[in-house]
Amino acid sequence: MGRAFPTLTAEDAAELIPHGALVGVSGFTPAGSPKVVPAALARRAKALHAKGEEFQIRLLSGASTGPLCDDALAEAEAIAWRAPYMTSGPLRKLANTGRVDFIDMHLSHVAQVTAGGFLGKMDVAIVEAVDVTPQGRVYLTTGIGNAPTFLQQAERVIIELNAFHSPRISELADIYTLPRPPHRDPIPIYDPLDRIGHRYADVDPRKVIGVVASDEPDGGRSFAAPDAVSRSIGERVCAFLLNEMAAGRIPPEFLPLQSGVGNVCNAVMASFSSNPDFPRFKLYTEVLQDTVIDLIGAGSVLGASTCSLSLTDEKLRFVYDNFDDFADRIVLRPQEISNNPEVSRRLGVIATNTAIEVDVYGHVNSSHFFGTQMMNGLGGSGDFERNAYLSLFMCPSFAKGGKVSTIVPMCSHVDHSEHSVQVIVTEQGLADLRGLAPMARARAIIDNCAHPAYRDYLHHYLEAAPMGHLRHDMRRCFELCNNYLETGAMLPDLDLKQFEA
Ligand code: COA
Repeated sequence: MGRAFPTLTAEDAAELIPHGALVGVSGFTPAGSPKVVPAALARRAKALHAKGEEFQIRLLSGASTGPLCDDALAEAEAIAWRAPYMTSGPLRKLANTGRVDFIDMHLSHVAQVTAGGFLGKMDVAIVEAVDVTPQGRVYLTTGIGNAPTFLQQAERVIIELNAFHSPRISELADIYTLPRPPHRDPIPIYDPLDRIGHRYADVDPRKVIGVVASDEPDGGRSFAAPDAVSRSIGERVCAFLLNEMAAGRIPPEFLPLQSGVGNVCNAVMASFSSNPDFPRFKLYTEVLQDTVIDLIGAGSVLGASTCSLSLTDEKLRFVYDNFDDFADRIVLRPQEISNNPEVSRRLGVIATNTAIEVDVYGHVNSSHFFGTQMMNGLGGSGDFERNAYLSLFMCPSFAKGGKVSTIVPMCSHVDHSEHSVQVIVTEQGLADLRGLAPMARARAIIDNCAHPAYRDYLHHYLEAAPMGHLRHDMRRCFELCNNYLETGAMLPDLDLKQFEA
């Protein structure tokens, strides 16, 4: 495998990446992200810094990467600029203290802006694969991300050949790249499991400067077991979707679901399978977490289109050991296709994503705490939310033991607007905002979704605010946020016992 190209050690490969380079990495989450070369690059950066020399790269990926990439490079202070998404603690710290320029982007845009040259030329792509042929066919691993575009755009390419993965992983891939506008045709996906491309990505073999051996697993993170709050959110989402079917607003064959990232989304997926009335369904989504593999195994999920198998190592091993059960049920696509607005709108995707906070009119913050502190980024939530048939946002009604209400007068940062957010769900209840004018939306959100301990405050805020199409008091709209920053609680006198389980 990869014999047509020079074999390099990870250290050799790292030496070939210059200071200031724009580096594109494969994968989406730790799945499919390169491991040994970024780790060697981090060691090189540390050594150069110890000698007083500059060394930092600009790093572009599919989404988050694994600890050997983002964590290692951030800890070595080897990243000057980073896009489009992250989940790394060390990187988050740098982004929130102005030491890394972090650009939070819609994930479906990344391939287009790269190919369009908006970010400058890509110097190097580091791509994890199970094989690369002399003709330049690259068989990718568990996360496709933007690798097909990076392979086309980068001036030089390093391939990490990873022996941990089953060579059969490429049977799941469906690689289809878009030409630049105006030479685009409609994307011919009419069902989540339609295959429209190849099992490999193409690279000009003359650009491949070397192949590096690796056997590092993805090391995907596991999720908290569903608790009472996330189970209650899941049950409410289930009941709502079943009611939509009964009312004829969702067809009897159901519609493809998109499920966002994190503990809440994982728990909501689990709740679908535990409800015997819930129909069997397909996913058109960007990441598959462990629960979906169980649901495919149990037959409640009929199949999934995704960009990434973001699984724990044990679950991925299970997939490899039982590959025939999954080969026809999972399609791995580039993120420009998995998250494509045109396809989402046509298929009628039902989008379910998690919010950090929601305001009384239905604007949603997915990315920043208290207006300033980046969590992960908005990821693909906007790609789906804005183009879905039905768009739901879910979150617990409170955080930090009740000191924070996730329902606030005005979001401290807005990723999704009231114009496309349709349904809000917390463990308290569900607010269906479709067709409601602003004040009715506000009452529905406060009465159904806010924790009872915060409802009076929110109602009084609205009633006291000056009249308008939206009622807001611009002097008080961030009072809860400021209270938290100043005292550690949004309502300092609140009795927190009522938040105990
Ligand atoms: N204020 C302060 N902290 C808050 C908060 C708020 N309004 N809401 C949540 N938090 C904190 C929680 O307390 C928790 O902190 P802890 O770990 O210190 O306890 C942390 O945020 C994560 O909360 P959790 O409930 O475990 O969330 P999650 O794992 O379900 O993830 C998001 C929630 C929003 C962070 C995550 O879904 C995300 O990054 N979304 C944006 C990207 C996206 O939607 N991608 C999907 C597209 S397909």
